[in-house]
Amino acid sequence: MINEFFSHARTALKVGLANLNIPKKSKLLLPSFVCNALIYPIVQNELCYEYYEINEDLSPDYKDIHAKIDNNTKAIILIHYFGKPQNIEKMQEFCNKMDLILIEDNSHGYKGYYKKKEIGTFGYFGISSPRKFLNVNCGGVLHLNHLKLINHNINEKYKTNKLRSFLIQNILNKFPKFKSELKKIISKKPNFLDPLEFHENEIQDKLIDSLSLKIIENTNWNNLRKERFNNYLKWQKFCFDKKLEPIFDNIEEGVNPWCYPVYINSLSEKKQLLEWAYKNNKYLFTWPSLPLDIINSENSSFKRWQKILCFSTLKF
Ligand SMILES: Cc1ncc(COP(=O)(O)O)c(C=O)c1O
Repeated sequence: MINEFFSHARTALKVGLANLNIPKKSKLLLPSFVCNALIYPIVQNELCYEYYEINEDLSPDYKDIHAKIDNNTKAIILIHYFGKPQNIEKMQEFCNKMDLILIEDNSHGYKGYYKKKEIGTFGYFGISSPRKFLNVNCGGVLHLNHLKLINHNINEKYKTNKLRSFLIQNILNKFPKFKSELKKIISKKPNFLDPLEFHENEIQDKLIDSLSLKIIENTNWNNLRKERFNNYLKWQKFCFDKKLEPIFDNIEEGVNPWCYPVYINSLSEKKQLLEWAYKNNKYLFTWPSLPLDIINSENSSFKRWQKILCFSTLKF
């Protein structure tokens, strides 16, 4: 297993796709519930894509996938939403049968394990986004299972603001409450109910910077995983008491959950919870920033987005 570090997971995907050696205009299947940042690397590689549907528990809808496969379909992206592993064996078997390349997206669960193997390392290649778990400038990983040598011409490192990093790592992180309050003063209140609030623009291809890499490598991921797991269980209890509808039944030990997600049908309840979280320095958020075509079509993925609320496992 080789791990290559880039500034972002989307850059890792771009490089992974470029090294697949599949013809231009080949079709890639990806779930319709996806962040818009993932579309750029596909288009930049001159590949086509089609969305497949997912079920209420965010597992792939195999019937729909079947219907979307044609002679031009070469690969499929499987997203382990919020760090919870999908049924990987089922997808591997399906890909073998249909002659598809499996790409795993574990951007929400870096260093999580499924049956004692790191998630993101089962597919032909996988991507993860450790930056989502730490206060680092950047950090996206390409996990290479079969591709031994990877070609890319990215040489420039992500520009780190060293003073900012020093302040965050050495001072602000030691006083989380103060940090949250300060954030409220210096940045505007995010509007989590606006589907375009977190729309991602295209970024330049960069490697990870040395400081971010050092922080990622020096992190005790076992401890971080345990802490995130415990916070997940606490939020699970909190949501159970509030009678909020869980998306997942249970969670296996070894995973590194990014958040505890629920469905909320009432907009006013969602607003109330977001307001409560903002006031009490808890971190609740909506996900994802969907691709524009999905937002504009107001299809089932958009409706799912309207219902979903995520309780960050960063803290309880
Ligand atoms: C499922 C998923 N994959 C990939 C990405 C891209 O990760 P990065 O921001 O590190 O490029 C995101 C970002 O939000 C994501 O949610």
